Amino acid sequence: MAFDIVIADGRVVTATDTYTGDVAISNGKIAAIGQNELRQNAARVIDAAGKYVLPGGIDVHTHLDMPFGGTTSSDDFETGTRAAAFGGTTTLIDFAIQYKGQPLRKAFDTWIEKASRKAVCDYSFHCIVTDLTGDQLNEMNALVDEGVTSFKLFMAYPGVFMLDDASIFKALRQTADNGGLVCMHAENGGAIDVLVQQALSEGKKAPKYHALTRPTTAEAEATARAIALAEMAGAPVYIVHLSCHDALEKVREARDRGLPVYAETCPQYLYLSIENFDVPGFEGAKFVFTPPLREKWNQEKLWNGLKRDHLQVVSTDHCPFCIKEQKELGREDFTKIPNGGPGIEHRMSLIYSGGVKGGRFSVNRFVELVSTTPAKLFGLYPRKGTIGLGSDADLVIFDPNRKHTISAKTHHMRVDYSMFEGIEVTGVAETVLSQGRLIVDGNQFLGQPGRGTFVKRSTYSPP
Ligand code: URP
Ligand code: ZN
Ligand code: ZN
Repeated sequence: MAFDIVIADGRVVTATDTYTGDVAISNGKIAAIGQNELRQNAARVIDAAGKYVLPGGIDVHTHLDMPFGGTTSSDDFETGTRAAAFGGTTTLIDFAIQYKGQPLRKAFDTWIEKASRKAVCDYSFHCIVTDLTGDQLNEMNALVDEGVTSFKLFMAYPGVFMLDDASIFKALRQTADNGGLVCMHAENGGAIDVLVQQALSEGKKAPKYHALTRPTTAEAEATARAIALAEMAGAPVYIVHLSCHDALEKVREARDRGLPVYAETCPQYLYLSIENFDVPGFEGAKFVFTPPLREKWNQEKLWNGLKRDHLQVVSTDHCPFCIKEQKELGREDFTKIPNGGPGIEHRMSLIYSGGVKGGRFSVNRFVELVSTTPAKLFGLYPRKGTIGLGSDADLVIFDPNRKHTISAKTHHMRVDYSMFEGIEVTGVAETVLSQGRLIVDGNQFLGQPGRGTFVKRSTYSPP
C-alpha cells in the first residue's frame, strides 16, 4: 500500500499507550501503524525522533466571531483556527447562539456561514439556547439529527442568555430523550446581579469588582442546582469553565454517587488568580471573564481534580477582546467590559507543562484531558481523539523539551495582549496535520482558509 505521509520514529501517545513507531497516512486517515517497513511506501517521510506524536487537540469551548458585550470577539474562524493549529489544536467546538424569538436552526445556519469559508481546521458547534418559549424543544431533536448534539444553557447573564429553572429542566429532559448533552454555565445570575448593583451604587467600578461580585458560592450553588435538575431529568450534564474548589466539590460528590456529571476547567483557572488584578489602572480588564479568577489556593485543587478525574476536560473558553476599543468600553464601569479572554493557542503547552512536566499526571492523562475525553463526550470518537486505524490524521508532533515564553509579541491570536504573558512553558507543538494535510511546520503556516470541515457529531455516550 502507498502512503501519502509516514511520521517516522516518534513516541506515539494515546490516552492508554506510549510506544515508538511509525504512523502512516493515506487520504487524510491513519492507514497503518508499524515500524520502519512502512517508510519505503511513503511519498513523504517526516522524522519525529525524540518527539511525541499526539492526536490533535480538541478544544470544546471557543467563541470565535461572537457578538457579545457590545462588540464581537476579535478572532474569527480564520485567525482563531490558525492560532489553535499553531498550538496543536485541530478541532474546535464553538457556540452557535440562538437569540430570543429565533428558531435554533437560524443559529446553526448563521455560524456555519461564519465558519465555512474561513476555518483552517475542523470544527463543530454546540447550540446556545436562550429561549424555549416556542417550538425549540422539538427543534433540539432536529439539530441532534444534524450532528449538533450538545446545547449550552446559562444560569447567569440575566436578560441576555439566562434561562429559568423550568426551561433548563425541560431542555435537560429533552436531551435525556434525544441523546444530547447539556453544557451548563453554572453561576447564580440573579444573586450576582444584586451584588453588581450594590458595587456600582458604592462607586466600585474598577475591573477587579467584576471578580469580587461573583463569589465562588454563586458558582457552587448553580453547579449543585444544575446537577439536581439533571438528576431529576435523568440526563447527563457537563459543567463548563469550572473555576473553583467549591464548585468542584459539587461535581465530585455527584460523580461519587455515580451520576453522569462531567466538568471542564480552563488554563486561566490553573495559572492565574485574583492577584492578577493587582496591576495599575485599567490593566485588570485583561482578566475580566466569567466565572472570574479565584484565590490562588484553588489552582492546586483544580490540578488535583484533573489528576483524579473529578474534572475530565481542559478547554479554553477562548473569547478574545482587544484592550484597545473593546475592553476599553468598560473603562469607567466594569459591567461594560466585554467578558472573555484569549487562550486557544496555548492550552496544550500550558497543560503539558504544568501537568506532565510539573509531575502532576502522565502524558497519557494529558492526551485524555485535551483530546480523547473531549472526543468521547462530544460524539467525535474514534474519528478524532486518538491515533488508531481509520481515525482522521489529525496529528501533532510535539517537542516535550522545547521551552517557550508566551507573549502577545509572538502569538498568532488576533488580540493585543496575552493572559499568560511571560509564562515559560515546556512542551511545544512543532508540526501539525489536519486530516493528513500539513498545516503548521515550525513557524510556518501551511493551511488554507475553508479547508476545515464541519464535523457532524454522534449523540452522547459515557466516556
Ligand atoms: O467570560 C466569558 N467566559 N465569556 C464567554 C461567554 C461564556 O460565558 O462562556
Ligand atoms: Zn459560559
Ligand atoms: Zn464560554
